[in-house]
Amino acid sequence: MAGEGHIESIVTRSAEETQRFGASLADRLGPGDCVGLDGDLGAGKTCLIQGVCSGFGVEGPVTSPTFVLINEYEGRRDERPLSIFHFDLYRLAGGEDLIDLGCDDYFYGDGVCLVEWAARAEEELPAGTLRIQIEAVDEATRRLLLTGGRT
Ligand SMILES: Nc1ncnc2c1ncn2[C@@H]1O[C@H](COP(=O)(O)OP(=O)(O)OP(=O)(O)O)[C@@H](O)[C@H]1O
Ligand SMILES: [Mg+2]
Repeated sequence: MAGEGHIESIVTRSAEETQRFGASLADRLGPGDCVGLDGDLGAGKTCLIQGVCSGFGVEGPVTSPTFVLINEYEGRRDERPLSIFHFDLYRLAGGEDLIDLGCDDYFYGDGVCLVEWAARAEEELPAGTLRIQIEAVDEATRRLLLTGGRT
């Protein structure tokens, strides 16, 4: 991944474009990587994650986990199976809950973690997490700000 302190800013003009960017992001991610997404309701966090998952060859629907907080998908990377863990922390009360869920097993495991509302787990996110802040500019335009990531 990009080096520490790296900043990348991207503007997309449709949900499809955000998904395409997500798919291209999958090429830059691998086992043990974590991506933390933030942005208002409807910003496009799930949309971007759908793109990342399609980049990993995930089949079937990718939707926000609601009651369980974590969805697991089977993806592939270089012909090998790769587990994708999709978190949605919107309903998370505090960091404690996430620790109780055993988040470290995911965050420090061999899969790829994609975390919506990542700021709610600020203390728990592994070093080297790629942070993506999504901002709605207008109805169809989104600004994606990427920071961090692995060195
Ligand atoms: N450029 C764009 N990129 C992403 N989504 C867009 C864009 N333009 C419009 N949209 C629309 O914005 C919405 C994004 O919804 P999405 O569920 O991905 O948001 P979210 O950030 O996950 O919200 P929540 O916090 O509720 O989970 C979709 O309805 C999508 O079609
Ligand atoms: Mg969402």
